[in-house]
Amino acid sequence: MNPNAIAQPNATLAEPTPTFFVRDIPVYGDAILAPMDGFSDWPFRSICSKLGSAMSYTEFVRAQHIVMAYKQMAPRLKFDEFERPMVYQIYGDDPDEIVQAAMMVQDKRPDIIDINMGCPSRRVVHGGAGVGLMLQPLKVARIFRKLTKAIQIPVTGKIRIGWENCRSYQLIARIVEEEGGSLIAIHGRTKEQGYSGEANWDTIAEIRAAVKIPVIGNGDVKVVADIERLKQYTGCNAVMIGRAAIGNPWIFSKTDRDKVTDAMAYDLLTDHLRRHLDFYGDRKGMILFRKHAMQYLKLHWFPRAVRTEIITQTDPQEFLRLVRKAFLIEKPLSELEV
Ligand SMILES: Cc1cc2nc3c(=O)[nH]c(=O)nc-3n(C[C@H](O)[C@H](O)[C@H](O)COP(=O)(O)O)c2cc1C
Repeated sequence: MNPNAIAQPNATLAEPTPTFFVRDIPVYGDAILAPMDGFSDWPFRSICSKLGSAMSYTEFVRAQHIVMAYKQMAPRLKFDEFERPMVYQIYGDDPDEIVQAAMMVQDKRPDIIDINMGCPSRRVVHGGAGVGLMLQPLKVARIFRKLTKAIQIPVTGKIRIGWENCRSYQLIARIVEEEGGSLIAIHGRTKEQGYSGEANWDTIAEIRAAVKIPVIGNGDVKVVADIERLKQYTGCNAVMIGRAAIGNPWIFSKTDRDKVTDAMAYDLLTDHLRRHLDFYGDRKGMILFRKHAMQYLKLHWFPRAVRTEIITQTDPQEFLRLVRKAFLIEKPLSELEV
């Protein structure tokens, strides 16, 4: 049982009720951190899991890289037991390579393999992967048919609406279901929209009506109330939260950012930083932490000189001292075992 399970309204004291199942895997909770390249690494995922994210998706991992350089990919696949259900997201355009990659990662015991069919980046789409797959329904069918035969754990798909001139979301969702897929996550934007413009929640509702497998809705969930709003509007089983979770993982414990005190933000930032340094090492860890720090601390509100001084710090202790000074947080340095 997921130790991070959020108590459900109809839960008994002894046994919380799963919110939904991915085939035979229970999921407790209705808010899930979206896979985000460059963000949903182990340090951030584990923080979000502890705060209630109900499933844990890795950043996407290229099938070819798993096949050709498995050892180098290992850090992207690291997870903690409490993150389960753990989803490895794979992208590629070659069904056999995807199957090979999925079989290789089985030794790490993920719960679910997810196929990325939503990435709009030119680099990914150019090779026919990501949202490029939404133009190739026969290939999607082959990927899911082969994959669901080859591996024992559930296979799922994350899609978009499709392309402006080929909005194939309904077709692709049906194919995923018919070929044995166990869940569809849909981001309600087209390839051309990228990450801007309004997400179209009607498409999420249409998919919910078109398939029997669980559906996760995604796009424009910015505050806690949006979680329920998206569920009510579309009937989806759960929602996925991407950008609004960056610097704001409290959203998974159903706390809006304006309810988070500076002291709470500081404590979580310290915990996140510690995980970052453990995972990436001091130098790389500090540099990669900048984008998180900007969001945690809302540094864009600060004068440029203060912001630059904080953000470019390479020494963790000094970085935390400057943060405490900027936010007038009184904590002894000894607490910060970074
Ligand atoms: C920086 C960034 C990286 C992303 N990387 C991935 C990825 O690796 N796999 C994926 O399926 N989606 C990826 N996405 C898309 C998100 O999972 C999500 O669908 C999108 O951000 C919309 O949700 P939001 O409006 O809550 O941010 C990424 C999005 C962003 C902003």
